[in-house]
Amino acid sequence: VVELQQAPQGTIALLFTDIEGSTRLASKLGAVWGDVLANHHALLSQAIAAEDGFVDGIEGDAFFATFVDAAAAARAAVASLRALRAHRWPAEVGDELAVRMGLHVGFVERRRTGYVGLEVHRAARVAAAAHGGQLLLTGAARALTGDAIPVEPLGSHRLKDFPSPEPLFCAVVDGRGAAAFPPPRTQELRPTNLPAGLPALIGREEDLQRVRSALVDEGERLVTLTGRGGVGKTSLALVAASELLDEHEAGVWLVNLATAASPDEVLPAVAGAIGADRDVTVSAQEAVIARLRGRGRVLLILDNLERLVAAGPELLELLDALPDLHILITSQVPLRLAAERCVPLDALEEAAALALIDRVRKRRGAMVSSHGPDRDTLLEVARLLDCLPLGLELAAARLGLLSPNQLRDRLRASTDLLQDSAADRPDRQRSLRATVDWTLSLLEVCPRELFVRMGVFAGPVELDDLESVAGIDGLDVLEALARLIDVALARRIESGDGRVRFGLPEALRQISAEMLGSSADADRWRRSHARRQHDLAWSARTLFVPANVFRAASAADAEATAALRWAREIGDPIAIPLGAARAMLLAADGRFREALSVLEPVLRSPTDDRSATSIALCAYAVTLCVLGRLDSAMTSADRAVESAADPETRALALSMRGVIHAYHREFEADVQDSSEATALLRDRDPAGYAGALLYEAQARMMAGELDRAREQLAEVERVGRPVDARALWHLDTLSGDIAVLTGHLQEGCQHYARSLEAAEARGDQLQIHHDLSSLGQTLAMMGRDEDALDVAGMTEAHAVQIGGVAARPGDHFHGNHLGPAAQRVGSALAEEFKTRGRAVPAATRVTVACQRARRAAGQVNEDVAVRTSE
Ligand SMILES: Nc1ncnc2c1ncn2[C@@H]1O[C@H](COP(=O)(O)OP(=O)(O)OP(=O)(O)O)[C@@H](O)[C@H]1O
Ligand SMILES: [Mg+2]
Repeated sequence: VVELQQAPQGTIALLFTDIEGSTRLASKLGAVWGDVLANHHALLSQAIAAEDGFVDGIEGDAFFATFVDAAAAARAAVASLRALRAHRWPAEVGDELAVRMGLHVGFVERRRTGYVGLEVHRAARVAAAAHGGQLLLTGAARALTGDAIPVEPLGSHRLKDFPSPEPLFCAVVDGRGAAAFPPPRTQELRPTNLPAGLPALIGREEDLQRVRSALVDEGERLVTLTGRGGVGKTSLALVAASELLDEHEAGVWLVNLATAASPDEVLPAVAGAIGADRDVTVSAQEAVIARLRGRGRVLLILDNLERLVAAGPELLELLDALPDLHILITSQVPLRLAAERCVPLDALEEAAALALIDRVRKRRGAMVSSHGPDRDTLLEVARLLDCLPLGLELAAARLGLLSPNQLRDRLRASTDLLQDSAADRPDRQRSLRATVDWTLSLLEVCPRELFVRMGVFAGPVELDDLESVAGIDGLDVLEALARLIDVALARRIESGDGRVRFGLPEALRQISAEMLGSSADADRWRRSHARRQHDLAWSARTLFVPANVFRAASAADAEATAALRWAREIGDPIAIPLGAARAMLLAADGRFREALSVLEPVLRSPTDDRSATSIALCAYAVTLCVLGRLDSAMTSADRAVESAADPETRALALSMRGVIHAYHREFEADVQDSSEATALLRDRDPAGYAGALLYEAQARMMAGELDRAREQLAEVERVGRPVDARALWHLDTLSGDIAVLTGHLQEGCQHYARSLEAAEARGDQLQIHHDLSSLGQTLAMMGRDEDALDVAGMTEAHAVQIGGVAARPGDHFHGNHLGPAAQRVGSALAEEFKTRGRAVPAATRVTVACQRARRAAGQVNEDVAVRTSE
């Protein structure tokens, strides 16, 4: 009990350890093993206790400990490794007992059964990737351990069951760092956006095999998983896709189409998912083709295509243009194309259905088993639900409250009821809708009400969003949500970003949206939803904001799209400021095509909202500038400055106009505009001031005032750090530029490497491009010609990948050092180095570039860098 109270939870440090080759060792040591284990336990327990760690469990030779403070956890791990080395082990053990360790920081909850949360599994995987005597850290752990222990970067790695790559770091203990160990034991990297934490399927082995062999053995290129809502199409597709990662060197990409409104949105959604939609001059189709052509086998998963089957011909064109492309679709109905292979998904077998009911009940702490006397009753329940997985989940969730007999009786009644009352509903929907209806009918008014209101959301959202949209009339959202989760109508979703969201399974979301649509106050909730999206986007519109404000706004992508669509359809005036702010955010994310399509109606509509007009014009100016239309960009920027009514908006407009001046090489004008912006925000909020100051520092740097620029960057750091201003994201790249301009080339490399890693963690492709480009030039200035040309090759490949990018305004400062580098090594070799750089897979590009940078900076010894990059 005492321990329970001490167990930390929330966002904490998670340390896993275990002895390498323990089974082998145990059998080799015989009776001595017991002593070895006891000593091992004593050493680790002591080190963990000394740093106030909480040992959650010891399983055989494995420890799981948690810490409130990440730095303490790192010190405990290092102390353990030292103690293990210092200890004198029996001769059979060898010099040291080889214990591997993994440290991660993430969000976990503490239940009766112990810790739960995706991050626990991630931490365990990190330990499993380490070698005996090695401590590995995740990026989150490294960020939060600060200077507690020295580490060396190992680049991005894929952990088992976690599709997206993760940066890993090796702790340096008494001089033993990355060079002392083989590369981490991780999966081969594959580019993908598959979510972490895949569903555990029951009874789908054969279906899985059918999908696999259609795509791989039989070489089908367009496979459609069909079946009714809730049968398990998406779940199966996700599991199949993750098992197919190894066959698809160019990646596996999930495209969620559940909320797309028209077939025209399919290709833009594909482009968005694969990160190709970066330039407005090409169509989405061209962007996708440019991004994927010649990169090897690639798999697209188009999820929930049923309302968009008219996009079929476009998909065929894509398949024609890309011979290595394969598409796996989930859809309630087939596309009816000649090239299509349909894999219909039936409900579960009865045995699997019972197993599913059992699993749901076990998770909810029930003891009963369907093998017992209830078996026949539960079998009838399963049949009443057509063995539909989603229906089974809903029904099983009620078994805490109702006995199997009661459940069956109610289910019978409501299925009959529904059959009478909704004769026109398609038969295949009947049992699910019936299940939802009776599940709702057993709840009080509040949770029922919340279920309907949740139909306004496009996907899972955080609690804050739910509360501020669905709680405006005082509904206790948290309480109602807890009830919905209890009965499996809503679910809690942990995403890879460590945030917890709440949403409805797709088939239920459709039902809830349908119920909302036919309710009298539908527009009230849609308006409330639109207002929330407006507030999120508007509070981030100037970009000079705390990082979390910006992140919250850009994470609300699908929601903002839905809100904007509704506002435009009914002509709600909120469409103007919402559209303007959203366009600015899209442009800041480098999504210029989307920004433009959001902007067009905004710029066309007459309005006297001067701030919204100004923001829209700013977004337009930036987009035009990237497109190289500098004169029109300047006209828009002038108008943006004129129409800005409040200081924040005016400051943004001035800063943007400054940048466009810089593109025109009018650096004095840039300094003038950006310093006026800074003056406007100086005594206002710190994130705003830091943002404007960053632009001024860039302007001063380009105007040759390097000392001034450096001072201002220090000021950005000082003012921005306490509020975690978004401006900090760009500090390293500018500090790198200044270092290089003042001849501190090694320092420049370090800044670029840091900037690259942070940009990769954010998914900021534009920033990655800029830093790669600067790094290549810098390496050439240092005479590291081979590395320079290799990084230049990576820069080119990256530019192609993101659909072409305009240069940065300051680029000419670095001059062209690559030409001379190529001359020094000779054109044949130069081409070879560049080709090698281009061939570096996208997923490892940043890692490899950072190794080149750190090697040049003298931070990593040359051997290590060479070895780990191979
Ligand atoms: N084989 C299975 N074993 C266990 N649970 C399953 C299985 N198949 C589906 N489920 C569960 O059933 C629910 C519905 O599954 P899923 O969302 O994959 O269905 P779907 O066919 O994609 O539905 P929709 O048409 O609404 O998109 C999910 O909660 C999922 O976890
Ligand atoms: Mg689905």
